[in-house]
Amino acid sequence: MSKRKNESSDSNKKAMKKLKEQQNNEEECENTTTTTTTSNNNNITSKFTIDQWIPKKETFSKRYYDILEKRKELPVWKQKEDFIKIVKENQVVILVGETGSGKTTQIPQFVVDAGLIRPGKMVGVTQPRRVAAISVAKRVSEEMDFELGEEVGYSIRFEELSSSRTFMKYLTDGMLLRESMSDPTLNKYDVIILDEAHERTLSTDILFGLIKDILKRRSDLKLIVMSATLEAGKFQKYFENAPLIKVPGRLHPVEIFYTQEAAKDYLESAVRTVIDIHKTEGPGDILVFLTGEEEIEDTCAKIQRETREKGLPPMKTLPLYSSLPIYQQSKIFDTCKERKCIVATNIAETSLTIDGIVFVVDPGFSKQKTYNPRTRVESLLVAPISKASANQRAGRAGRTRPGKCYRLYTEKAFKELMIQQTHPEILRSNLASVVLQLLKLGVVDLVHFDFMDPPVPDTLIRALEVLHYLGALDDEGQLTETGSIMSEFPLDPQLSKMLIFSSENGCSNEILTIAAMLSAPNCFMRPKDNRIEADSAKKSFDHFDGDHLTMLNVYHSFKKNGEDPTWCYENFLNHRAIKQADSVRSQLARILTRFKLSLVSGDVNSKYYYENIKKCIAAGFFMQVAKCEKKNIYFTLGDEQSVIFHPSTGLTRRPEFCIYNEFVLTSENYIRTITDVKFDWLLELAPNYFKQKSFPKKTKEAIQRAQRLYSGSSSSSSSYKK
Ligand code: CDP
Ligand code: MG
Repeated sequence: MSKRKNESSDSNKKAMKKLKEQQNNEEECENTTTTTTTSNNNNITSKFTIDQWIPKKETFSKRYYDILEKRKELPVWKQKEDFIKIVKENQVVILVGETGSGKTTQIPQFVVDAGLIRPGKMVGVTQPRRVAAISVAKRVSEEMDFELGEEVGYSIRFEELSSSRTFMKYLTDGMLLRESMSDPTLNKYDVIILDEAHERTLSTDILFGLIKDILKRRSDLKLIVMSATLEAGKFQKYFENAPLIKVPGRLHPVEIFYTQEAAKDYLESAVRTVIDIHKTEGPGDILVFLTGEEEIEDTCAKIQRETREKGLPPMKTLPLYSSLPIYQQSKIFDTCKERKCIVATNIAETSLTIDGIVFVVDPGFSKQKTYNPRTRVESLLVAPISKASANQRAGRAGRTRPGKCYRLYTEKAFKELMIQQTHPEILRSNLASVVLQLLKLGVVDLVHFDFMDPPVPDTLIRALEVLHYLGALDDEGQLTETGSIMSEFPLDPQLSKMLIFSSENGCSNEILTIAAMLSAPNCFMRPKDNRIEADSAKKSFDHFDGDHLTMLNVYHSFKKNGEDPTWCYENFLNHRAIKQADSVRSQLARILTRFKLSLVSGDVNSKYYYENIKKCIAAGFFMQVAKCEKKNIYFTLGDEQSVIFHPSTGLTRRPEFCIYNEFVLTSENYIRTITDVKFDWLLELAPNYFKQKSFPKKTKEAIQRAQRLYSGSSSSSSSYKK
């Protein structure tokens, strides 16, 4: 199991060496076995019942009783007594049940009813998705007749709603991981529920390892692992044969239709299918699975237009994706007279149960993270889903009565091309951020960390290297002071590096704004019918040097105009997004202050004002640089992908080198959020990175040429200029 700092003198240098050896031998990382058994550990007795310390209500609202009736019909209720008995007798329990069987909303309440939560302690329920954490917390607070944020709360990155009375908290898995940094034994919790475990997100996988270790040291802690699919055998094995509870589903049959040939344009095909269903089928709501916000909004608009133009009865078209404002998200649960058509990302696959769906339209794609450790590029790509996902999607049609699922791909594609199960995220992610957190937690021996599926050694080595280049690790592989502070920010290491650097270089106030704007949803609105006006409004904020500085302009104007929503509306700015950035900004500022890092503004009158800001961005993002090859074509340094500027950029020039925030692969290879930089700053800011011998040819040539060009030029100082 993972060794803690004080128990082990192993440095990461050794770890890196070991990893490299392993890689050479082409051996897999090996999990050491633990000696303690986790089952039959009857440590928490039912001393407390909910009535004893949770203020018992005298009366409940009518709604409470109405919902209670519905709750009692959920499949998990039939097993309430069994569940409570098994949980009391075991430290770890695995629970598997179909989506909609009541796991997420009911099990935490059963845990409380069983008296497993001592006064002042909590049951924490993790969710891979922010939207699910909030919407489920809201639902459960209603079910229990509490005000959201009081007894039942939630916590997602940059947003917490809880009180001193909170005994049930829904939180993203990433947040629980973060909490473990300040509370390494997760002392606030008596029971932890890792929900949606089948999704195998990076954070959930790391939590598996951490909590498995904590369980040995905290016999008073219980863990429940919940999953919608039957991959449970793997969980049982990992948790020393923990008992498995299966909740029998109550799915109705779902008839599956395939297309004769692959759809050329799945969006068009999806719209056509929805219209056909609406025209020819009886009552029942429709759920369409698409990949992202833009696609979803466009498709909703198209469906509405076609319904109108074809003179069909009205249909309520509702988008659902993670960056959608909460009040709009919750509309999917409203009942309405007309047929509902929900167009969602795969958030609707298992995380959220929407009742009343009878028809599912599945084009067979989702956005998936991929990571190439060789080139260090992580990208979010639209890729075919797995068979397991396709079956989950189809299952959504049979919740309330027999349903139909229209797959916009061929049966052959399903059978022969789709993989069985999506690979766990840990095998396809950049691990820099997680490795930094683990190091901060004192897990220095990464090789022997108890991963359920160990990442390939190459990915771990790359993560350590990236952290080394960023100055978070010293040459010995030990966490530096900078690295330790970096780990405290709920941000990617590049962003936290940029922030810390800016504080030492006289412009942390500006960089705070940029980091916050980058962490909030896109602030520019581009409604379909007003694209020209929106684009021209955006131009007035565009900065000559690039998009990062444009964000600074937007934020300043927002403040100057008194945060006025009307002003935002008139300027095609998303008021909510900028307000959110503002809140993120204050939270990040608090972290800087906590570490005595100064909040300073640059001198606007200095001719170096923007140059200094850009250097700070470069101090974090020197690994995301593109070089102009010819005209509009750039290539990214390192992995030499041919890219063009995303049309949203306000950078009209084509500088020789630029830094980008994102690499987007759609119909073209785009880089997005781009700012002009000088190569000599990069060389000064990250000399070790640019010295790498392993760079491919074009990159090496570009670096050498730039080095020749800048050698001896004294104007090229990366340090702060007045
Ligand atoms: O976690 P699981 O998929 O097993 O089910 P759940 O999320 O606990 O949902 C159980 C039921 O609660 C759903 O079928 C809905 O009827 C209801 N629910 C709701 O009405 N509103 C929500 N936001 C969440 C659940
Ligand atoms: Mg659930």
